[in-house]
Amino acid sequence: MKLSWCAVAALLSICVSEALHLEQIQQPVLNLVPATLGQDKLSDVIAASPLLSLHRAICELESVTDDELAVGKLVISILEAHNFTVKTQSVPPPGATNSTKARFNIYAYPDASKYDQTRIASVPKPKVLLSSHIDTVPPHIPYALSQSKKSSSRKDILISGRGTVDDKACVAVQIQALLDLLEDSDAKIDPSEVALLFVVGEESRGDGMKHFSNSELYNQTNADYKAILFGEPTEGKLATGHKGITMVSIKAHGKAAHSGYPWLGRSANSIILPALVVLDGLGDIPEDVGGLPRSKKYGKSTVNVGLMQGGVAGNVVPEYASAEVTFRLAGGTIEEVKDLVIKAIREVDLDGLLELDFAQGYGPISLDADVDGFETITVNYGTDIPNLKVAKGVKKYLYGPGSILVAHGKNEGLTVGDLEDALEGYKKLVLHSLKL
Ligand SMILES: *[C@@H]1O[C@H](CO)[C@@H](O)[C@H](O)[C@H]1NC(C)=O
Ligand SMILES: *[C@@H]1O[C@H](CO)[C@@H](O)[C@H](O)[C@H]1NC(C)=O
Ligand SMILES: *[C@@H]1O[C@H](CO)[C@@H](O)[C@H](O)[C@H]1NC(C)=O
Repeated sequence: MKLSWCAVAALLSICVSEALHLEQIQQPVLNLVPATLGQDKLSDVIAASPLLSLHRAICELESVTDDELAVGKLVISILEAHNFTVKTQSVPPPGATNSTKARFNIYAYPDASKYDQTRIASVPKPKVLLSSHIDTVPPHIPYALSQSKKSSSRKDILISGRGTVDDKACVAVQIQALLDLLEDSDAKIDPSEVALLFVVGEESRGDGMKHFSNSELYNQTNADYKAILFGEPTEGKLATGHKGITMVSIKAHGKAAHSGYPWLGRSANSIILPALVVLDGLGDIPEDVGGLPRSKKYGKSTVNVGLMQGGVAGNVVPEYASAEVTFRLAGGTIEEVKDLVIKAIREVDLDGLLELDFAQGYGPISLDADVDGFETITVNYGTDIPNLKVAKGVKKYLYGPGSILVAHGKNEGLTVGDLEDALEGYKKLVLHSLKL
């Protein structure tokens, strides 16, 4: 989109305030829409809801990891328009030499002076932090609206495109949940007790959350935390935990030769292949004979041989080969898994020719799910949760609309109903957490 972010923000605030008005009038009419709804009508449904139009605005901006500047500016303009105080943290991508690649984390809290001057410290120490990430995986897929063939209910309108689920659904729902609660005189929440954190880089290095975790801002504000609400797609259920992860990159060095005289060289592919075959099966081997850990909670650990490279041409004995393998862990510690992987590889790499480099990882992460009225789920993906140093006793909740099963795919999408249900879910979680 060629509009500047201010223009987008200006458009949006008009749109949001009009939408607020429209929603009150039109909601009952829009609950059942005709089966032949056109694009204009679908857009009207979105425009009539502050939550859905906020979600649309941030999904329409591309924000693949390392390119989060535009969406960050838009999120700031939205928060500032609602009188939030916004603090940014610059997180330059690795190797960035100038500011063209600027990107930042966003930390925001309601301007409590609007509500009660006497109750706010200069930097409030919130009880509840809501956090999600503003980057997406590539490639960008444009925002689109379509109607379910089976249903003409507005709740079943499908919103698709990159980030619509992972993780801009959570960004939008978390913002709207706080706005609604702050406006709601029955909820009586203290504005100084809540804050928002939107980080960059979750889909790649977790550098946004790591930066926040090590920052002075975090040190200054985390003393009174009762709960942190992490947003990722959990199908509207509370996650009781997620699997751990570790990665190993493997390199083999051989000796090049003519393929007609292979004995003159040493094939790097032949060195690496047996190791990859062994690793590929390591999740299916019983634990007592050297397989990866299993658990009742998560089932089997799984392995993905995700990247292989080796050789230069069909008629050359390969001098060099490499691979990257990711393990999703159902149990055990990182050290245990590392030992197990090394042992399995050394059984086929008798001469110790393979070079192994393990990425930092973590074992399964246990989460809190002690809130009435929520179904629970376990998930196999990683999150930013281990990247934030959280004091003992602080509750960690993981919750969000939409399914991880579509999140990184071409068909990423969720329904209006998913988003609206999660909005209510988040309000419940915030109110529950404030009472802890
Ligand atoms: C923000 O604060 C200003 C000044 O106090 C007020 O006029 C305005 O209505 C507030 N806006 C929102 C969205 O709360
Ligand atoms: C920053 O880098 C980009 C390309 O990487 C270049 O086009 C631009 O001129 C640089 N800006 C400054 C201020 O050096
Ligand atoms: C934050 O607090 C930790 C622990 O007290 C300390 O080690 C660290 O240096 C502090 N970081 C900053 C940036 O103030």
